[in-house]
Amino acid sequence: MFDVPMSKLKTAFVCQQCGATANKWLGRCPDCDAWNSLVEETAVAPGRDRSRSGLATSGRPTRYEEVRTDDAVRVGSGSLEFDRVLGGGIVAGSLVLLGGDPGIGKSTLLLQVAAARAKEGFSVVYVSGEESERQLRLRGDRLGVEGGSLFLYSETELERVIDALRRESPALVIIDSVQTIYSPKFSSAPGSISQVREVTAELLYFAKSTGTPVFLAGHVNKEGNLAGPKALEHMVDTVLYFEGDRHHAHRIVRATKNRYGAAGELAIFEMTSRGLIPVENPSGLFLSERPRNAPGSVVVCSLEGTRPMLLEIQTLVSTSGFGYPRRVAVGFDQNRLSLLLAVLEKREKISLAGEDVYVNVAGGLNVNEPVADLGLIASVASSFRGQPVDTDSVFIGEVGLAGEVRAAQQMPLRVKEIARMGFERAVIPSGNCPIEDAPADLQIVGLRNLSELMELIF
Ligand SMILES: Nc1ncnc2c1ncn2[C@@H]1O[C@H](COP(=O)(O)OP(=O)(O)OP(=O)(O)O)[C@@H](O)[C@H]1O
Ligand SMILES: [Mg+2]
Ligand SMILES: [Zn+2]
Repeated sequence: MFDVPMSKLKTAFVCQQCGATANKWLGRCPDCDAWNSLVEETAVAPGRDRSRSGLATSGRPTRYEEVRTDDAVRVGSGSLEFDRVLGGGIVAGSLVLLGGDPGIGKSTLLLQVAAARAKEGFSVVYVSGEESERQLRLRGDRLGVEGGSLFLYSETELERVIDALRRESPALVIIDSVQTIYSPKFSSAPGSISQVREVTAELLYFAKSTGTPVFLAGHVNKEGNLAGPKALEHMVDTVLYFEGDRHHAHRIVRATKNRYGAAGELAIFEMTSRGLIPVENPSGLFLSERPRNAPGSVVVCSLEGTRPMLLEIQTLVSTSGFGYPRRVAVGFDQNRLSLLLAVLEKREKISLAGEDVYVNVAGGLNVNEPVADLGLIASVASSFRGQPVDTDSVFIGEVGLAGEVRAAQQMPLRVKEIARMGFERAVIPSGNCPIEDAPADLQIVGLRNLSELMELIF
């Protein structure tokens, strides 16, 4: 209803979050409900001069059997850890967006990938709209980059970038960052949604028509979304995010969307002066600073992509100073926390009405799997009672509204990781028992509901 035909307008107010247009300024976007997201931009008639004809290679519908797939090969990015998030390597003609907070390591990771490809003799063009070639070189020297067929190009104008890419026809292109490249065809500022969309569309066409993989670095806004997020995420093949914050020495890169592999897959690196180095044993890293016998500290096993990972959930329950109790979760879904607290109160008669509840997943990882429910509840109950939970147990299981513990997927894989990390006991849903090929020295306890959990831990 707010979509006024663009051709009739000189300017339009465009939502920088979702791209919706309105003919007057509004405090809140009518489409995506974002506040204060509308910015006045010059409207451009949709059917403007454009030589690109879409993504079809032959310009007509092609018979299924005649579509070629032999060029959809993957090449290594120089890091097995990064290859895994990409779904097994870099796919020809793919457009990959890498988002993250300022200073978290986007340029570092992309320069490392560029250098690894160049080292193998493939030409790579690294376009930077934010740093000079000299700055890039300095970073490269610190990372131990050997030039070879790596080309650096400081440029912000889209047309010049595309011209250079067509001239050089590299085997890999890095654009750092998508928000700093702009087209003078549009009068709106670099980074605005029209610009970012145009730049992405042009690079998408370049990637698909030439079969060249293109990586885009993207800034995130205050809410942690990519600037112009939805519009961008739909256009690209793969979306990768640096998760957590940069106050940890390790960096987590997660695939939130991937047309060439599993979403949810993640890579864990350590940031060093020589660049990002893969972490060999993530469970070990996340449990390294775990306090022993501290109330509220519980270990869960979450499947991140294809890898099981042991994580520590910490909860602090403390008497609320004000009428309205606080529920704060870092690394855990806020709504899920409220839901689980309600279940715990109702089923186990633990009164949290006058208590603040603070939950933190140690290490900066976000736990998205519901199998962390059981551990979270154990952690809340433990902190509430001031009694530690057995340090050598790991808790797995989704909890339903009736307080029932629901079966989880991939239990043999998780149990193996638990045994590998030297734990003595796995507390799991009874629906998953017995487990085939369970490690002999691991005690396995099956639970049906929360009452059994309370009996077990206290
Ligand atoms: N000498 C060094 N030793 C260790 N780490 C370093 C060193 N120099 C820089 N770093 C790390 O590299 C990070 C900067 O990485 P990078 O420039 O790749 O981030 P970015 O995501 O591209 O940032 P921006 O959003 O500013 O482009 C710093 O935050 C720091 O953690
Ligand atoms: Mg950068
Ligand atoms: Zn919007």
